[in-house]
Amino acid sequence: MELIHRPRRLRNGEILRKMVRETRMDKSSLIYPTFVVEGENRKEEIPSMAGQYRYSIDQLLYKAEEMLEAGVNKVMLFGIPDHKDACGSEAYAEHGIVQEAMRALKARFPELYLIGDVCMCEYTSHGHCGILHGHDVDNDETLQYIAKIALSQVEAGADMVAPSDMMDGRIAAIRALLDQNGHTNTPIMSYAVKYASSFYGPFRDAAESAPSFGDRKAYQMDWHNRREGLKEALSDVEEGADILMVKPAMAYGDIISDVKAATNVPLGAYSVSGEYSMVKTCGNLGYVDETAMMCEIATAAYRAGADIYLTYFAKELAKAMDEGRIG
Ligand code: PBG
Repeated sequence: MELIHRPRRLRNGEILRKMVRETRMDKSSLIYPTFVVEGENRKEEIPSMAGQYRYSIDQLLYKAEEMLEAGVNKVMLFGIPDHKDACGSEAYAEHGIVQEAMRALKARFPELYLIGDVCMCEYTSHGHCGILHGHDVDNDETLQYIAKIALSQVEAGADMVAPSDMMDGRIAAIRALLDQNGHTNTPIMSYAVKYASSFYGPFRDAAESAPSFGDRKAYQMDWHNRREGLKEALSDVEEGADILMVKPAMAYGDIISDVKAATNVPLGAYSVSGEYSMVKTCGNLGYVDETAMMCEIATAAYRAGADIYLTYFAKELAKAMDEGRIG
């Protein structure tokens, strides 16, 4: 048979396949999100996220060491305070749980890059991501709190802040307050394109942050919308976001690829709790090859355009990269 093109030719053998691979990744792009609680000697498995835990600070130090040994040197922290109130005051308390965790991690592991998730839902008694007026989250009043939370995290040692609240104007508000306080070099990674997703279910168990009434659809995005993702991304770039993020990752490859094409800042994709749980649960049941599926889903995010990948599988992915399974 005379064929000019034989695409199979380049699939012949692992050496050739790896040479012509279009998507390459490495461990420097991985961020591990994790949860810190008050108290001592606590390491509680999150029931809906097998293999993920809520750590007290002493236990978090062991986890950080394990991550560093695996080659993952970036963590994103979520604090879960004992005391929650209407304005989430523990989120910006000088000695709040996340601030203390950052101080302890920085002191012990100066080489660990610390990212603070900036939001209120883990800290408010009502579980919404801002200040309530009646049943509405008041955008403009919330901004000053969001900025205050970011500043308190940076003052406690955060190298980067990542606002996930989805208020309009938050990037500008955070940037202004950080700059006024001399933190002009602290980058902001915006959860710019964040959908009101059912994939966050397990996280809300983990962080005890489910809204006590209603949902987050009045601030997080409607997942029927694609062009609106660009609107959010571009306005955050204008407000001064250094890095953008799309969230969730797995079902949102079109959005990742749109934002990548339309902007010139680094782009993150957050593989959220529900993605982790699906893979983990099916893996534990023996229905799928968990490692292979994890690799395929991660590669899809990079293939769509992600430069940075936030995942609860960070350690396992780093290992897969070491073993040459991906990357
Ligand atoms: C806080 C926040 C959430 C997640 C990250 N930051 C929860 C939410 O918006 O309800 C979800 C992360 C995950 O599901 O892994 N607003």
